[in-house]
Amino acid sequence: MAVLRDKIVIKNLSKTFASKKNSVEVLKDINLTVKENEFLVILGPGQCGKTVLLNILAELDEQTSGTVEFADGRPKMGDLGLVFQRYALFPWKSVMGNVEMNQKLKGVDKATRQANAQKYIDLVGLQGFEKALPKQLSGGMKQRVGIARAYASESDIMLMDEPFGALDAQTRYSMEDEILKIWEKNKRTVIFVTNNVEEAIYLGDRIILLGGHPTSVKKEYIPEMPRPRNYTDQAFLRLRNEIVADTDLSL
Ligand SMILES: Nc1ncnc2c1ncn2[C@@H]1O[C@H](COP(=O)(O)OP(=O)(O)OP(=O)(O)O)[C@@H](O)[C@H]1O
Ligand SMILES: [Mg+2]
Repeated sequence: MAVLRDKIVIKNLSKTFASKKNSVEVLKDINLTVKENEFLVILGPGQCGKTVLLNILAELDEQTSGTVEFADGRPKMGDLGLVFQRYALFPWKSVMGNVEMNQKLKGVDKATRQANAQKYIDLVGLQGFEKALPKQLSGGMKQRVGIARAYASESDIMLMDEPFGALDAQTRYSMEDEILKIWEKNKRTVIFVTNNVEEAIYLGDRIILLGGHPTSVKKEYIPEMPRPRNYTDQAFLRLRNEIVADTDLSL
């Protein structure tokens, strides 16, 4: 296997939320190196601080201590490919309007940004829906718009925060296949957050398990199975059981 370059290096990252009344230490000494073009999954129970961590990487929030280094310089806000936990689409904008948004904000001319947006609308299988409004779309389709929008930002780093959490099981399975197909065709460094063990094993080149109070990196796993992985394979089930046994459910 080719040796991958370090893309993001996180060192001793901690985050405490302090108010006048109390202070809550959410993350403590997170140490993590993300390789270029790897599909990294961050797995952790609800409320453990997954969104807080992604927000810090996206510069939507600031760490209390520790460092985050980007090998190619910190992407500017608007340059990061972000897919949020909720759809976070502009309801009054069409599919095209939502997907071209980042480039419009950057002042890219209309023909160029729409051609770019179209490429990703096609990639996520939404051709024909360019003019539709979010309310006319199913949950799975809305999340595809979110993914297309993140890709259209042309960032080489994609941060995905439980993008399929709100979907029904069937749509979720097909979106998991879609996201892998898109990643194969269009390699980026992906950090994919989930609280779902099966999803983590199905998708990840590497899985980082978070746990503890406050939260830190508990363990790391590399699923050795080739893709597409099979939920009922012995190796899959063995890894699933191992991760479940290691998971801290006491939050
Ligand atoms: N702005 C804030 N001020 C105070 N506490 C916060 C703030 N943002 C998050 N927290 C706390 O940090 C903890 C982690 O929150 P976070 O949203 O990162 O969890 P999560 O792992 O993403 O959970 P979920 O799986 O439900 O999305 C929670 O206890 C939350 O209350
Ligand atoms: Mg969250």
